[in-house]
Amino acid sequence: MSLKGKVAVVTGASRGIGRAIALRLARDGALVCVNYHSNAAAAQAVVSAIEAAGGEAFALQADVGSVEQLGRFFEILDAELTQRRGDRRFDILVNNAGVGLAGTTAASTEADFDRVFATNVKGPFFTVQHTIPRLRDGGRVINISSGASRRPMPQYAAYSMTKAALDAFTIALAAELGKRGITVNTLAPGLTATDMSAGFVEDPNASRLFSSMTALGRVGKVEDIANAVALLAAPDAGWVTGQYVEASGGLGLLMPGFEVN
Ligand SMILES: NC(=O)c1ccc[n+]([C@@H]2O[C@H](COP(=O)([O-])OP(=O)(O)OC[C@H]3O[C@@H](n4cnc5c(N)ncnc54)[C@H](OP(=O)(O)O)[C@@H]3O)[C@@H](O)[C@H]2O)c1
Repeated sequence: MSLKGKVAVVTGASRGIGRAIALRLARDGALVCVNYHSNAAAAQAVVSAIEAAGGEAFALQADVGSVEQLGRFFEILDAELTQRRGDRRFDILVNNAGVGLAGTTAASTEADFDRVFATNVKGPFFTVQHTIPRLRDGGRVINISSGASRRPMPQYAAYSMTKAALDAFTIALAAELGKRGITVNTLAPGLTATDMSAGFVEDPNASRLFSSMTALGRVGKVEDIANAVALLAAPDAGWVTGQYVEASGGLGLLMPGFEVN
């Protein structure tokens, strides 16, 4: 579905799922702001890939967990969009930037806890706060959560909590912005092959276990998630808001060891 004339901001788009989302929204016609944290070369490579495919994009650094850096990010974004489009407003925000945290409650430190909450919770909240005056009526906010928000794992207690907080934010924000025709939804990936999940995906036993619990029988690819985001970003999704949509191939629908005949 065409996003021609639309402008999208994707946080954490230098690698993994965010990269695939940026490429997909650009392919659908949007001008894409590729946010990244520390990996400028990777972000620039995403911009080059978009341009090589005939699309338009630019990279912009910010640690989304820092309100100060977000302030600077949005000032530069205003200037960039005004120069390119004559208007600082945009249409789609994808809150994708996130960090994992492996560790039980017993093993996690205060610094671990603060880091994962800063990026995964404070980041989307204040990114949205800056976005509200800039997002066009009829726009889209898509929060990238995780299946772990509804099926928390003891080895990822704090991470699971961050994603549950993000899910709650989606619902509150959908109610706040509905009067402007803006939709706000959660897209929750299951296990998806990226740097973040390499520990699982590259372990043949873990990968086999997750695949055996998944209705569609495999681990997710970043394009699977980007395709689902494109559905929520599309004009036809304008009546869908405040929802939790899982893109996991049906993770957890099968019980390992039980054959389906
Ligand atoms: N992979 C999975 O199995 C899975 C499953 C469920 C949910 N998710 C969620 O999907 C999202 C993307 O995960 P991924 O697997 O693609 O991760 P990834 O491969 O580790 O990539 C993370 C991306 O986020 C950026 N980032 C990290 N911290 C940031 C910060 N403070 N400010 C701005 N950008 C930051 C990184 O930028 P740099 O390159 O500059 O470091 C990178 O572009 C996350 O929210 C994650 O929780 C992933």
